[in-house]
Amino acid sequence: VLYRVIAVVIGYIFGLFQTGYIYGKRKGIDIREHGSGNSGTTNTLRTLGIKAGLITFAGDCLKAIVAMAVVWAIFHGIAEDWIKVLCLYAGFGAVLGHNFPVYLKFKGGKGIACTAGVVIGICPLAVPVCFLAFILIVLITRYVSLGSIVGVLLFLLQIFVFYRNGILGVSGNYANEFVIITICFTLMAIIRHRTNIVRLLNGTENKIHFSKSDQS
Ligand code: G3P
Repeated sequence: VLYRVIAVVIGYIFGLFQTGYIYGKRKGIDIREHGSGNSGTTNTLRTLGIKAGLITFAGDCLKAIVAMAVVWAIFHGIAEDWIKVLCLYAGFGAVLGHNFPVYLKFKGGKGIACTAGVVIGICPLAVPVCFLAFILIVLITRYVSLGSIVGVLLFLLQIFVFYRNGILGVSGNYANEFVIITICFTLMAIIRHRTNIVRLLNGTENKIHFSKSDQS
């Protein structure tokens, strides 16, 4: 239990690095007072433009990868299955730190860029399906939230389908725990997107615009 707690705490600390919030502050605004009130990639892109959105995605994605790398380095030498699970805990900690930053009154983002970092870092073979689905959904519907939810669900689905044979690098004694933590990522994404889901069902969800002339 102690190792798991250490991994989550390390992840949480890295997750506190709020790229969108910091970028916004440098531009003189609190990103959480604009658009959807979210401090993540989508709202930074919506409020400050594509460059800001890309930097926010890179920063939030990287912090999860770095958190997992730190945990990997700390626990280097223990069984590989076990260390992967600990890295997954670290990634989940990063999502918690991102979504509920203690120094911002627990008002952060929705954890999708962090989750993307986790998938890239720990299950890179699951990336293409998630990424392609995300891009297609966003391009066709312009709903980033829908793309995010489907992307995270597809990560879970791939883990479910492949974890037994180790195709995604998940097998052995810790495979069940790996799946359970993956379910936690999915639940977290759905809970954080609950208002988006209501708006999607009502047909009132915000669409993303990629350029100033693209305000349909
Ligand atoms: O990753 C967040 C995205 O899925 C939705 O963001 O700001 O439109 O609620 P937002």
